[in-house]
Amino acid sequence: MENNITFTMIKPDAVNKGYIGAILNQINNAGFEIIAMKLTKLSKEEASKFYQIHEEKPFFNDLIKYMTSGCIVAAILKKDNAVESFRKLIGSTNPAEADEGTIRKLYAESISANAIHGSDSDENAIVESKFHFEDIEIFNH
Ligand code: CMP
Repeated sequence: MENNITFTMIKPDAVNKGYIGAILNQINNAGFEIIAMKLTKLSKEEASKFYQIHEEKPFFNDLIKYMTSGCIVAAILKKDNAVESFRKLIGSTNPAEADEGTIRKLYAESISANAIHGSDSDENAIVESKFHFEDIEIFNH
């Protein structure tokens, strides 16, 4: 499988605080090409489906409430070794544990309101990208 695609969402806390531009700038500076992007708002059904894997977790309801609380920016990013490279750029899930200079260290509030999502595998990058951009041409050939 190709490993040059990852999927991201700038989450409601970061959108509400006006960090879209600053975060996109970091993504560009790190050498990612934005191949699809949209500002959108997830419904409860969409968020529940997207985070189905966390259904049994104690934080699931709060996660869905939070992810549907405001707009998000969804995007597909391209770069060699995209998943691993992007996870380095965004830092640990918990911003308190994130390295200096990472997007979560700079812009996230907490483990639940953690500013940005990045796919955790090449397989999920494709699944998550298709979830938000089902008609995009890159998946049609
Ligand atoms: P992300 O990795 O983008 O997708 C799953 C999200 O669940 C994660 O970001 C966090 O926002 C949230 N999450 C993961 N672990 C916890 C936790 N222990 N408590 C609260 N939220 C969490």
